[in-house]
Amino acid sequence: MKTHRNPWGDAVVGWGALSALGAWLRTVPAPRRVFFLVDENTHEACLSLVHPEVPDGCAVEVLEVPAGESSKEPEMALSLWEALREHGAHRDDVLIAVGGGMVTDLGGFVAATYKRGMRYAAVPTSLLAMVDASVGGKSGVNLAGLKNAVGTFYRAEGVFVDPIFLETLPSREVAAGWAEMIKHAYLDGGEHWNTIGQFAVAEADTMERLIQLSVAFKARLVEQDPEDRSGVRAALNAGHTVGHALEALAWTDVSEEQLNDLAPDSLATSGAAPEPLLHGEAVAAGLWMESWVAEARGLQPAADANALRSLVRAYFARVPLPSMEAAWTVMQHDKKNRTDEVRMALLQAPGSSVVLAAVTKAECAEAWEAYAKTFV
Ligand SMILES: NC(=O)c1ccc[n+]([C@@H]2O[C@H](COP(=O)([O-])OP(=O)(O)OC[C@H]3O[C@@H](n4cnc5c(N)ncnc54)[C@H](O)[C@@H]3O)[C@@H](O)[C@H]2O)c1
Repeated sequence: MKTHRNPWGDAVVGWGALSALGAWLRTVPAPRRVFFLVDENTHEACLSLVHPEVPDGCAVEVLEVPAGESSKEPEMALSLWEALREHGAHRDDVLIAVGGGMVTDLGGFVAATYKRGMRYAAVPTSLLAMVDASVGGKSGVNLAGLKNAVGTFYRAEGVFVDPIFLETLPSREVAAGWAEMIKHAYLDGGEHWNTIGQFAVAEADTMERLIQLSVAFKARLVEQDPEDRSGVRAALNAGHTVGHALEALAWTDVSEEQLNDLAPDSLATSGAAPEPLLHGEAVAAGLWMESWVAEARGLQPAADANALRSLVRAYFARVPLPSMEAAWTVMQHDKKNRTDEVRMALLQAPGSSVVLAAVTKAECAEAWEAYAKTFV
């Protein structure tokens, strides 16, 4: 296990991190009551692993919300504040979010605002939440379709990242987290980038090491720019200009066939109807296309651009491609833009930061076409 420090809550990462949750709970002074926030999936798949860590004599309440992004809304925060009040929750009681990024974003926000801040800890259970959402203090809810429109930074008293939860995480969700890990590894460079290139998803010990490297990288950026003001965290936007546009347009014009093609066989899930596109899948395609632009501009060395794109190609199938025209219009409204020019966080060599640059429509169209020809 390793502990990665950052101003918004230290993250304990590795097999057995859950026992550190128990050790921390035993240090919380009385009166002690634990409120677990879960969604219906993490209630079923994860809570039984976390519950035994609660010390004897400590009362437990479970607050469950429906799974999915539609729970990350002000109305849900309101009903959670009300539930806490009905249970007589005190600000010294502990709220523990057990779930993916939706639950940790919502839980952090509710904990930050209930009685001006109750004790809070996170147990991220999706790969995306482990390496990204639960690290860095950002919490919040969406408002009228605007992602994370209302929120705050809030310090978790602990973030407990245990890879054990990956055993039940649907494989498409694993791949979605993997996209952010590829991005972190490239930006970090060195051992991190070398290790991810030689990795096969089945290797549990390497996965633990990669999660540690990924969390450490994010924690370092957060430490340099705790409130995301200086621009250091802008590197994390690599792949996201195109990625967000693909995501925004994914719900339109997606055929059944494209949906079924989204996840390669090895990553396919069974059961619930597939989402048209997960955030990580869109980011993976965005990384591929934006790397095409960065290489064409001479920012990203060809060998590194090829290595990155090959890695994306190895793990991700073609995403539903909207028209370039429609995507360009969405990209013009991206939050990174000052005017209606399109700006991308373009990669350079591994281990270097990004160059935030205005990109032309022709450059983007070339990348679009190259993607469509490669991912057939
Ligand atoms: N705060 C931040 O810095 C930050 C950063 C990145 C993303 N986010 C937010 O994170 C959210 C996306 O996170 P996500 O991809 O984890 O989505 P999610 O929380 O919706 O989880 C994805 C799905 O996996 C299920 N799940 C999670 N863990 C499981 C497990 N161990 N076993 C079985 N099922 C499990 C969930 O129930 C859900 O159905 C978005 O709201 C995004 O805005 C926040």
